Amino acid sequence: APFRVDVVTIFPEYLAPLRQSLLGKAAERGLVSIGVHDLRQWTDDVHRTVDDAPYGGGPGMVMKPEPWALALEAVRPSGTRLVVPTPAGRPFTQAMAAEWAQEPGLVFACGRYEGIDQRVADWAADAGPVSEVSIGDYVLAGGESAVLVMVEAVTRLLPGVVGNRESVEFDSHADGLLEEPSYTRPASWRGHEVPPVLLSGDHAAIDRWRRAESLRRTAVRRPDLLPAEGLSDADRALLDG
Ligand code: ADE
Repeated sequence: APFRVDVVTIFPEYLAPLRQSLLGKAAERGLVSIGVHDLRQWTDDVHRTVDDAPYGGGPGMVMKPEPWALALEAVRPSGTRLVVPTPAGRPFTQAMAAEWAQEPGLVFACGRYEGIDQRVADWAADAGPVSEVSIGDYVLAGGESAVLVMVEAVTRLLPGVVGNRESVEFDSHADGLLEEPSYTRPASWRGHEVPPVLLSGDHAAIDRWRRAESLRRTAVRRPDLLPAEGLSDADRALLDG
């Protein structure tokens, strides 16, 4: 069965990119199947109201719980993970993407305004796992672009979606470090040279150089990713060398 993605949003047009490029092809090939649903179809008043003022006062509006409950009852198979993008969530990681890619599918609930009444996530936990997640330490206007990010990160890990399995296994973050730089022809370009070791044909030396560059880049750009217990002697030597 294809990996099933359902998204509930008040801006269904925003999810149009899900039908393009890598994902569109994966859908055509039957590897993924995507449903985008307008939350307002589960409202019952003439104004199709989805939000209301926050209890306790304060700025902005909160999404009402009942349309969400009806939407999730209609769209979410029992046991399917519900993902709620929110800047107040746990950080989304490559490890989460890899775990979610093992599941049969995902349902995403896009909040706008100041978020969704918290009782929706609490109630939804009775029917399956609920993940409130953030894609980074910045605030978006809503969860839609975060869903595009997460769906792309998860679906490219599904078998057959990306042609070259190695390009997935050797990604930045796949081994906890950043990827080394890469080069193609010409060897000399506008006064900038390809590192000579890559032209040497010495595969052991190339592997050592790649590991050293990966460690160096990570130490400079993302020292938080280096192992807290310290590097192995071999990696320490590469980084210092
Ligand atoms: N909604 C608003 N900001 C967000 C963020 N950083 N991550 C996920 N969802 C969001």
